[in-house]
Amino acid sequence: MIRLSDVSISYGSDQDNPSFALMGVNLDVPEGTYAVLIGPNGSGKTTLAKIIKGIVAPTGGTVTVAGKNLGPEEISEDVGLVFSNPENQIISTVVEEDIAFGLENRGIGAAEMRRRVNRIIKRLGLTQLAKRLPHTLSGGEQQRLVIAGILVMETKIIVLDEATSMLDANGKADILRLIRELNEKEGITVLSITHSLVEAVLSDIVFVLDRGKIVFSGTPGQFINNDEILARLDIELPEFLLVLKGLMRAGIDIPDTALGVQDVIGSLDRLRREG
Ligand SMILES: Nc1ncnc2c1ncn2[C@@H]1O[C@H](COP(=O)(O)OP(=O)(O)O)[C@@H](O)[C@H]1O
Ligand SMILES: [Mg+2]
Repeated sequence: MIRLSDVSISYGSDQDNPSFALMGVNLDVPEGTYAVLIGPNGSGKTTLAKIIKGIVAPTGGTVTVAGKNLGPEEISEDVGLVFSNPENQIISTVVEEDIAFGLENRGIGAAEMRRRVNRIIKRLGLTQLAKRLPHTLSGGEQQRLVIAGILVMETKIIVLDEATSMLDANGKADILRLIRELNEKEGITVLSITHSLVEAVLSDIVFVLDRGKIVFSGTPGQFINNDEILARLDIELPEFLLVLKGLMRAGIDIPDTALGVQDVIGSLDRLRREG
């Protein structure tokens, strides 16, 4: 779980004139939830991710992760955080060594380490790249490498900050599927910061951050039906979500979390059978 209570942070040293990157943020992501956070550039998303990991301390409020309150100088080992910029997160000179780096640091035994690294390499389709030098990889390949290095740690919580921004549509979908599977099968709590509406509606809960404040939290169904928030963020729904929204407004019974194209098809099929 992740819980932020009344979290604020101002950068800079002018105490008479503080500029707040986050202001009174309350956020509750129960254990095993797949949550999505969206918001315009500069709204404070990355700051929020860093606060959850503990690499930036808030100026006010409390942060609880995996049941424990984070101290001011404390970095949470329960949180795996992936940023969008892969070069800054790659440490070793060989792909497979980079994936093993975190485990090695924790003193995990060689056999166990091999097993975990090999499994992640397979799951992320990095087998062909295992011996390559990270700086020779494409941006998308580097992002998969960085994600592998976090997943291999098997943390209870994963925070992805636009972590698949350089991957193509198929690559993004593969990673999403994998993260969703970890969430469903292993109960990993996920907070994914994204600009993708498709990902947002596939989640359990959507948060919208605007100018340092949470301005919406609710299910994907509530989100696509909140015209005020959509207008405020200048969001245009893709066609399949317009269809889904139309069906919902017509009173068709559609579950309102994890909305995918399959839900549209399922609803249409039910309608057809019910005549
Ligand atoms: N280290 C920093 N020093 C000063 N201002 C910062 C720093 N990091 C972020 N900010 C400011 O805080 C605000 C939120 O930034 P950020 O959390 O990166 O937003 P987002 O990830 O939503 O684009 C921005 O106005 C940004 O300029
Ligand atoms: Mg950011």
